[in-house]
Amino acid sequence: MTEFCCPNCKQALNIRQAYYTCEPCRIDYRQYVGIPNFKQQELYPGEWKLLEEFEQKYSQASFIELMEYMDSIPKKNVLPCELRRHQRFAELNEEDKRQYLANYTKETIVKPGKLQLEITQFLINKAGYRLRGGRCLDIGCGRGPWAVTAVDLFDEIFALDVDMASLILAKKYCQENDISNIQFLSATASALPFSGDYFELINSQAVLEHVDDQARTLKEIKRVLQPGGCFTGDSINRYNLFTPEPHIELRLIGFLPKNLAHKLSLWLRKLPYDDIKPLSYNELRLLLRQAFDDHFKIVPLSESPDNSLTYKVMRRLPAKLLNLFTHTHYIIALKNNR
Ligand SMILES: C[S@@+](CC[C@H](N)C(=O)[O-])C[C@H]1O[C@@H](n2cnc3c(N)ncnc32)[C@H](O)[C@@H]1O
Ligand SMILES: [Zn+2]
Repeated sequence: MTEFCCPNCKQALNIRQAYYTCEPCRIDYRQYVGIPNFKQQELYPGEWKLLEEFEQKYSQASFIELMEYMDSIPKKNVLPCELRRHQRFAELNEEDKRQYLANYTKETIVKPGKLQLEITQFLINKAGYRLRGGRCLDIGCGRGPWAVTAVDLFDEIFALDVDMASLILAKKYCQENDISNIQFLSATASALPFSGDYFELINSQAVLEHVDDQARTLKEIKRVLQPGGCFTGDSINRYNLFTPEPHIELRLIGFLPKNLAHKLSLWLRKLPYDDIKPLSYNELRLLLRQAFDDHFKIVPLSESPDNSLTYKVMRRLPAKLLNLFTHTHYIIALKNNR
């Protein structure tokens, strides 16, 4: 018996060597470098084979070597949301590549992790929530910025992503930095491999616009939260008037029909856009209501801790307009005790 359950039937799993097994579903979930993989299908053809290669490299390579190796795989094996980084990496000359790798952990793990944790703390203070520091889950953890920064606040952290390659990298980072209480796992956010009432806090930042099924994801989050537990997250705004869309750096793209936005992105940025689904304020509110009834707040940006010029300008807008046209919505939701 393990702490995980089957993402399909939610029954307990047995563990046998490198596999978690669901007897009722007759499915074996394999682990890679000790990270269970609860997906049944590859994200792209050849994913399992590539993961075996990463697994073989894992013990010998450093974090940076492993990342360089992963960033050099063929484009056909790169997830749509990782393409932009992959594309930029390929365009760097040798000197810039060296610089990028040297600054990588500072710029893409330490700095964003600190900012994301500040946002979580800001949101829980806003809701008057008192953190006990029990067990938490970071959904769509990527290469782990939030989880590795939050590590001292919790007894136990689970960090989940659909992309196993990112998790292997995040695990290597932890190993090199003596972080031992994060359990990584690969699964989709819309089918979480945990029984109900499991986590005190769930965080998910820069993820909701990526997930396959946003409504199911929010319901799954509510299901696995303990009664009285809380969810902190964000969601980029489709109708953003202020900043370029963060994935493709095109302004006002959300005002176009989705298929046109995708075509324009392919043409101007050589990047797909049909995998990103930014929600409007009203769409987000509806989905949160379906999952959490009235126990949530979409927090106006003007109250966020960020102090850059864009935020200063936006702070002058009335809250209603800001909610409609801001670039990001912050979310705090609670699972009530009943
Ligand atoms: C923009 S990245 C953000 C990563 C991390 N939260 C951060 O802020 O650095 C989006 C992440 O969501 C993950 N993701 C996309 N769809 C997902 C899903 N259905 N379930 C879990 N993770 C998902 C991607 O693999 C990627 O790591
Ligand atoms: Zn099952």
